[in-house]
Amino acid sequence: MNTILIANPKGGAGKTTLSTNLAGNLARRGENVFLWDLDRQKSALHWLSLRPASLPRIQRLDSNKQKSGDGVLVLDSPAGLHGGKLGDLLKLVDKVIVPIVPSSFDLAATQVFLYELLNEKAVRKGKAFVAIVGMRVDARTRAAEKLDEFLAPIDLPVLTHLRDTQNYVNAAFEGKSIFDLAPSLVAQDVAQWQPIETWLAQ
Ligand SMILES: Nc1ncnc2c1ncn2[C@@H]1O[C@H](COP(=O)(O)OP(=O)(O)OP(=O)(O)O)[C@@H](O)[C@H]1O
Ligand SMILES: [Mg+2]
Repeated sequence: MNTILIANPKGGAGKTTLSTNLAGNLARRGENVFLWDLDRQKSALHWLSLRPASLPRIQRLDSNKQKSGDGVLVLDSPAGLHGGKLGDLLKLVDKVIVPIVPSSFDLAATQVFLYELLNEKAVRKGKAFVAIVGMRVDARTRAAEKLDEFLAPIDLPVLTHLRDTQNYVNAAFEGKSIFDLAPSLVAQDVAQWQPIETWLAQ
């Protein structure tokens, strides 16, 4: 099973937003999707419990032992993930996406994690591939510039920037992803996801 971990030890970086929308994106594209919520707060599972049965199905997974057959598994992880727990998880995954909010506090907190990730055996040996997604980024702001400056020396692909929009917030209230909203409302957001789809297909 193709397994994608969403991780950043900084709280509020956008892990659950990215996980749930990725699951929704893959389900809409006809994939057999599983969502595993590793966070004790269980926000991703709460979202899944709200999801209307009429929408493309996302199945809940609670342990690695249940992993079988074809499909894609999206793993939402808790704040504070690092060290041995991170190393153990990386043994299970094919790809890691790190969401980053362009604020001074978030960048500082994420920097150590990115270097930790790059030093992990699974990543060094090319068994797990890592990429970054800018979250809540307004391209015209100083914060967006700072994000680019911060990421430039780090040898990891920056796939895309997702804008700050109530579309993510409103969709989440109903167990939906942006891909389940009216296409005319989310055209700009859907377009911003294109590089993520391309990277995952590689
Ligand atoms: N692109 C976006 N536009 C608007 N709001 C967003 C966007 N991305 C995330 N948010 C909001 O930011 C907040 C934090 O996001 P989220 O809960 O996904 O982060 P998290 O990393 O999972 O947090 P935690 O570390 O607590 O698990 C949420 O209120 C979410 O709705
Ligand atoms: Mg979360």
